Amino acid sequence: MDDSDQHYWVSNPNSTSRQKEVKLLLPDVDLSLTTDRGVFSANQVDKGTRYLLMNGPSIPSSVKNILDLGCGYGPIACTLGKRYPDATVWATDTNLRALELCRLNAKKMESKNVFTCLPEEIPKHLFFDSIWSNPPIRIGKESLHQLLLEWLNRLSANGSAHLVIQRHLGSDSLASWLETKGWDTNRRGSRKGFRLLDVTRKEKDEES
Ligand SMILES: C[S@@+](CC[C@H](N)C(=O)[O-])C[C@H]1O[C@@H](n2cnc3c(N)ncnc32)[C@H](O)[C@@H]1O
Repeated sequence: MDDSDQHYWVSNPNSTSRQKEVKLLLPDVDLSLTTDRGVFSANQVDKGTRYLLMNGPSIPSSVKNILDLGCGYGPIACTLGKRYPDATVWATDTNLRALELCRLNAKKMESKNVFTCLPEEIPKHLFFDSIWSNPPIRIGKESLHQLLLEWLNRLSANGSAHLVIQRHLGSDSLASWLETKGWDTNRRGSRKGFRLLDVTRKEKDEES
């Protein structure tokens, strides 16, 4: 593997930096985002991410803490930060270059409510009302399962998670697996090979 095709989820990409700007145009948000080599979908905002942002739910005004799990350069975090100025958006990733870009992109839009940090820097006591993610499927099934359970367990009692996953990368088997682990998983939408999944905690007596 040469330095240009290193996996996007490594913590410290060694590919030579070559920043560029990509546009994210949504009906309510218009962003110019800086991207770079070594991060996910550097040449354009990923189609799945766009689908999630276009078709994910509206968040009630009572929502305080939102998590963007695997934020990359920040299309989800920055959009949610703009849409919900009264909420705090936590943006986390293990790829340091992506984190830096997310921080920069939030700063460029003069955001005061997007906090970008490594997963281990998120305060342990914090629970999230809403988790949004285009998750890192390619880290492998076991690691992905572990990652999702870790963060789903940080949903507040009435919280929900919203995931976009490609069908050919196993969205449907992931949905079934989440059900077996105590998470109601409903398909909000399906388009062009992507599935949008809404995940909530099962009621206790439903599980038994
Ligand atoms: C499919 S990309 C989505 C990036 C961004 N949200 C977007 O929509 O463009 C998944 C991201 O998850 C990150 N990731 C991988 N392992 C992770 C982990 N254990 N915790 C948090 N993020 C992780 C990757 O580095 C990558 O940036």
